Amino acid sequence: MRESLQRYTWHEAGIYRHFRETICLPFLTARRSSQRSSLLLLFFLLLFFSGAFLATRLLDSTLLTSIAGNPTPNTILTTTTTHVYPSEIPKKPLPKIQIPLNCTSGNLTRTCPANYYPKNFFHSQDDRDRPPPATCPDYFRWIHEDLRLWKKTGITRDMVQRAQKTANFRLVIVDGRAYMERYARAFQTRDVFTVWGILQLLRRYPGKIPDLDLMFDCVDWPVVKAVDYSGPNATAPPPLFRYCGDDATLDIVFPDWSFWGWAEINIKPWEGLLEELKEGNKRKRWMEREAYAYWKGNPVVAATRVDLLKCNVSDKQDWGARLYNQDWIKETREGYKQSDLASQCMHRYKIYIEGSAWSVSEKYILACNSLTLLVKPHYYDFFTRSLMPVHHYWPIREDDKCRSIKFAVEWGNSHKQKAQEIGKAASDFIQEDLKMDYVYDYMFHLLSEYAKLMRYKPTIPKRAIEICSEKLACPAIGSQKKFMMESMVKGPTDVRPCNMPTPYDALALHTLVKRKANSISQVELWEKRYWENQTKHN
Ligand SMILES: *[C@@H]1O[C@H](CO)[C@@H](O)[C@H](O)[C@H]1NC(C)=O
Ligand SMILES: *[C@@H]1O[C@H](CO)[C@@H](O)[C@H](O)[C@H]1NC(C)=O
Ligand SMILES: *[C@@H]1O[C@H](CO)[C@@H](O)[C@H](O)[C@H]1NC(C)=O
Ligand SMILES: *[C@@H]1O[C@H](CO)[C@@H](O)[C@H](O)[C@H]1NC(C)=O
Ligand SMILES: *[C@@H]1O[C@H](CO)[C@@H](O)[C@H](O)[C@H]1NC(C)=O
Repeated sequence: MRESLQRYTWHEAGIYRHFRETICLPFLTARRSSQRSSLLLLFFLLLFFSGAFLATRLLDSTLLTSIAGNPTPNTILTTTTTHVYPSEIPKKPLPKIQIPLNCTSGNLTRTCPANYYPKNFFHSQDDRDRPPPATCPDYFRWIHEDLRLWKKTGITRDMVQRAQKTANFRLVIVDGRAYMERYARAFQTRDVFTVWGILQLLRRYPGKIPDLDLMFDCVDWPVVKAVDYSGPNATAPPPLFRYCGDDATLDIVFPDWSFWGWAEINIKPWEGLLEELKEGNKRKRWMEREAYAYWKGNPVVAATRVDLLKCNVSDKQDWGARLYNQDWIKETREGYKQSDLASQCMHRYKIYIEGSAWSVSEKYILACNSLTLLVKPHYYDFFTRSLMPVHHYWPIREDDKCRSIKFAVEWGNSHKQKAQEIGKAASDFIQEDLKMDYVYDYMFHLLSEYAKLMRYKPTIPKRAIEICSEKLACPAIGSQKKFMMESMVKGPTDVRPCNMPTPYDALALHTLVKRKANSISQVELWEKRYWENQTKHN
């Protein structure tokens, strides 16, 4: 444990001030393999992010330089220390331990502070009269499913090695400290903020993350195809971490970078944003909201989005949808005023549609207290497998979007109570089950369960460097710095992680999948009847 209990104060007035709340619906992606996607990426870079991207390349290179190990002066931040210990042994709860970010300790580009993480922290603080931790939300049960494949075989060094083929980086944790070997730069700062998130987890639960060795791929699409690892002579699949999966792949899903901020398009870290979303929802009650389905995003990333635009209102047709292009060049120039969250929770219905894979926008849409019209998704991320149709969202057909949206809007406007309830259930889910505490607990349990499967003792790879929050945050500037400071875990938490729920048994899993499919079929049936009746009367 750290010798003293410390509090610290930031003397960086600028960091928290003038913090403009903005939100955009991000619909971007990058992929290295296919030609289609490289074109897309190019298009995307040129068209949508040119300004932001150039600017952040500069910022990013600072971080990367420091990760690569070139010395950089680290005097951007200063901290002061105030000792808060009382002179007597306290009976009351101890003041919280805080681990200040120490940017003045010299050669941080080479070494992380020694004695960084307090040891045996739970023993000293946690055995007090604390309420027992709650059971984790249901979506944690999917951790068992994602790791099930390796239950029998365990995870060997060879399997991990095989996952390197597409990985952006390897992360190794040994004795509670983190090491990283970078293979390929990720798009924008995805990898930097993903690693930042893991480092915050280490600050939150110091010494509690077991030794492990993993490969992380920051590209959108899942790549470990189930079909390649089935059959009697199949080899065990490589365990590969990424942000989303689908039914045909075996990649392990992990929370995406946006929970700690998306600097390039000015999406703030989730914790603060979640509060703002809650406040924002009070501005306009559901009944006073526009009785249309709203979507704003970048259509060129996927054919299905271009198809969606056909449902926009015109002189000839009104499908009940109001759809808008996100003009990133303009947004960037004008400081993201038009992508402000408040202006996006003004409709009774909000459409969610995937981009080239899952989209980080889903949580922002579900949080709006509006009825989410969810165009049939193909991908899942770590929490979306818990969402139930007609309970959390309204399912929209992919192959008949306009008529499906029209029916949903008509249904909602004639079942206002029920429509509001669904919107509320989704927002409650986001506010409660997807709060940052649970995002960390998900990471905690996933990594712990993964580590249990390791069949070898992880060692620090030769080319890996030690990483800690200082290495990333001290040399950072601009939004990256701002978001890192805002999302930094100040010190160990005094609550234990939630209790991991038991795995689904085969029957329960089957029932769940069936229940979902049945509610979707039910809606499609209502929809069919509605349109049959419409044709009859017209
Ligand atoms: C930062 O690190 C330096 C060198 O290790 C040490 O002397 C200093 O006390 C540290 N500052 C804080 C606030 O912990
Ligand atoms: C930092 O460490 C490197 C390599 O160990 C060394 O060459 C350099 O002089 C050090 N810089 C400072 C400011 O101590
Ligand atoms: C599996 O391996 C065995 C023995 O090498 C071979 O006889 C059999 O044809 C293989 N089966 C498949 C499906 O490849
Ligand atoms: C959809 O229609 C509205 C209203 O006419 C218009 O303002 C908007 O630009 C249209 N969206 C697209 C993507 O064309
Ligand atoms: C069929 O449509 C008519 C006219 O739009 C409406 O009055 C009637 O309630 C509808 N019936 C059903 C079963 O939806």
